[in-house]
Amino acid sequence: MYLNNNPIGVFDSGLGGLTVVKELIRLLPREHIVYYGDTARVPYGTKSREAIIRFSHENMRVLLKRNVKMVVVACNTSSSYALGILRKHFHLPIVGVIDPGARKAAEVTRNKKIGVIATPATVNSRSYARAIARRDRAIKISSQACPLFVPLVEEGWLRKPVTTAVAREYLGPLRRSGIDTLVLGCTHYPLLKSVLKDVMGAKVALVDSAHEVAAEVKRVLHERRLLRTSGGRARRAFLISDRPQQFEKTAREFLGYNIKAVKI
Ligand code: DGL
Repeated sequence: MYLNNNPIGVFDSGLGGLTVVKELIRLLPREHIVYYGDTARVPYGTKSREAIIRFSHENMRVLLKRNVKMVVVACNTSSSYALGILRKHFHLPIVGVIDPGARKAAEVTRNKKIGVIATPATVNSRSYARAIARRDRAIKISSQACPLFVPLVEEGWLRKPVTTAVAREYLGPLRRSGIDTLVLGCTHYPLLKSVLKDVMGAKVALVDSAHEVAAEVKRVLHERRLLRTSGGRARRAFLISDRPQQFEKTAREFLGYNIKAVKI
């Protein structure tokens, strides 16, 4: 089957996956993209393993109906619990966000002390701890679940004082633990980068996997000879399961241009 000109599918529980879309557009500007944000059921990070796996399957089916040539699971929570299962079940390339972020963090740290902030489900899965240990067993990892970050982002409260106060509370123990690298282990968190930078200080490197994930997508498309070959403008569709206006508003602020979100 000739798939090159089909879109790349990307899913997330909400709008956090846009951080990955932004990098995909930068690195692969010619590719068509179909994004699906499950805004009706966000957050995933406080749900059970079973629910996360079921939602991830359903999101895959939404994208497959749009004839995607590969899928990016742009959600750390889904990647933590469902990536292996999805790869067994669906026969197309699927890229997750944990390994690329873990690889980058292991490269960046100098003092071998890494902090990981993520949803409670991702922290409980220990997916980052395992992925980082696979690269370097000597690295010490301190994790912190930050369940209030996702609703703040979904609400578009990216720079409010309350967001800084919440970040101070969550990040206090990590600041005291002497880490030199902090993994933003949730695709929503890069939207809070300026607040997180202020709270952690300039000496701590913030690692988000978006750029690494986009590079991995490019590598996979190249290897499988799936890069788009046709001419014409790249099409981008944003499908979501609820509250399109809210999605459009935050997406505009983050991407810097207007998008049209379609509720399905
Ligand atoms: N953006 C997601 C993640 O990377 C999920 C946030 C959530 O739904 O709790 O984990």
